[in-house]
Amino acid sequence: MSYKRTEITADQVSEQLNICDRMRAFYASRNRQPLAMVDTFGCQQNEADSEKLRGYLNAMGFGFTMDPEEADVVIFNTCAVREHAEQRVLGNVGALNHTKERNPDQIIAVCGCMVQQPHMAEKLKKSYRIVDLVFGPHELWRFPELFETVATQRHRVFEITPKDGSVAEGIPLRRDGSVKAWLSIMYGCNNFCTYCIVPYVRGRERSRKPADILREARQLVEAGYKDITVLGQNVNSYGKDLEEDVDFADLLKMINDIPGDFVLRFMTSHPKDATEKLFQTMAECEKCAHHLHLPVQAGSNRVLKAMNRSYTREKYLDEVRLARTYMPDLVLTTDIIVGFPGETEEEFQETLSLVNEVRYDAMFTFIYSKRVGTPAAKMADPFTREEKQVHFDALLEAANTISAEKHKAYEGTVQRVLIDGADGRGEWNLTARTKGGRLVHMKGDESLVGTFAEVKITDSNTWALYGELV
Ligand code: 5AD
Ligand code: SF4
Repeated sequence: MSYKRTEITADQVSEQLNICDRMRAFYASRNRQPLAMVDTFGCQQNEADSEKLRGYLNAMGFGFTMDPEEADVVIFNTCAVREHAEQRVLGNVGALNHTKERNPDQIIAVCGCMVQQPHMAEKLKKSYRIVDLVFGPHELWRFPELFETVATQRHRVFEITPKDGSVAEGIPLRRDGSVKAWLSIMYGCNNFCTYCIVPYVRGRERSRKPADILREARQLVEAGYKDITVLGQNVNSYGKDLEEDVDFADLLKMINDIPGDFVLRFMTSHPKDATEKLFQTMAECEKCAHHLHLPVQAGSNRVLKAMNRSYTREKYLDEVRLARTYMPDLVLTTDIIVGFPGETEEEFQETLSLVNEVRYDAMFTFIYSKRVGTPAAKMADPFTREEKQVHFDALLEAANTISAEKHKAYEGTVQRVLIDGADGRGEWNLTARTKGGRLVHMKGDESLVGTFAEVKITDSNTWALYGELV
């Protein structure tokens, strides 16, 4: 496939940082620190993008809030994968009519996947006059420049030109926590599953160079992060666009070899190119979580083909078997779409039987949502929402039953967990994750956050395990 990979140069990024300095001076004349609210919808990639937005805002001297009343700038970083997420964003944007009335200087920005769709940008332009700035994922690296125009010239800016996509290094990040970190290794997607909008809004697959990724990973370990999740739309195709001869398994091994005590996770894997080498590497790398998020989407070969998933049910099941021979303790999770156009009762039953055969530790289930401009949007879709809901409910029930059974099997065992949060909810004040990524509620001192501990699992339910320190 030929497409244009654009490297954003160090000079271009440092120009953006100069603009941050100018904006800092611009706001310094006020008698209080300006505040920004960044609200993120959708996947982990978006969370990681919001860390860049906050990094830039931090460089401009902003503090942060989640209260739109007191925010000088509100940014919605949006998702386009399903209609529901879009409706929520539009609802939240609409609600700012009141805050902007009280504070006409408030700047409202909407960015991310939703606005990269021309019909959505148009909708914001025409029907949401309070929105000052709209930019797609391709322009995130030059957010300071776009923001400066809006803040100093007070006119609306819309920047959503379609592009294949770029790679920019050196954007400052302001991470949310101090225990868990996202580490993006690639951007975009080339797979064009027929239901999915992502390849249209995030552009073509492009990998960061191993040296840049390793530098960031080392910084994370040095800064004390204990849980690193490597991110990409399809990490299994990492490196295919690089001149260097490096694949995802090689990269995992290199990150694993960084000295330090941390857990290494990744998502998402496309089943069409998960390799035996990857499973073997996961098994051999002592820091690598034995967890695969391997979205199957459907259990019927007819539907998989119509989805353009490039694998069959049989190939998928073989892959799961192979992964489990390398890692008998593998935690397996998946995504499933119910009600893809034309999916029949029999075809749905094939999804259900696959789920019962694989027995996932956890599943993310969705009802098909029609996305403008995708091939599936043009397919006949004869079944009603009510009929799809019946299937969805049946699938959810199967998923919950299996999760509860899988969790039950942990009871009485001792697990090494990373204590990663103290949400203070009742007596189970701490949260932790097993190496495979299962949630554990436990009791203990907040100072334990960020440490590893041995925990005996005493109880469980569909969603989580409960344990006590040993
Ligand atoms: N409708 C419903 N679910 C979708 N997903 C992607 N596109 C759609 C859509 N149009 C789901 C897939 C994917 C997950 C991130 O979202 O299951 O793996
Ligand atoms: Fe969408 Fe398929 Fe790409 Fe995942 S692999 S982002 S489902 S097109």
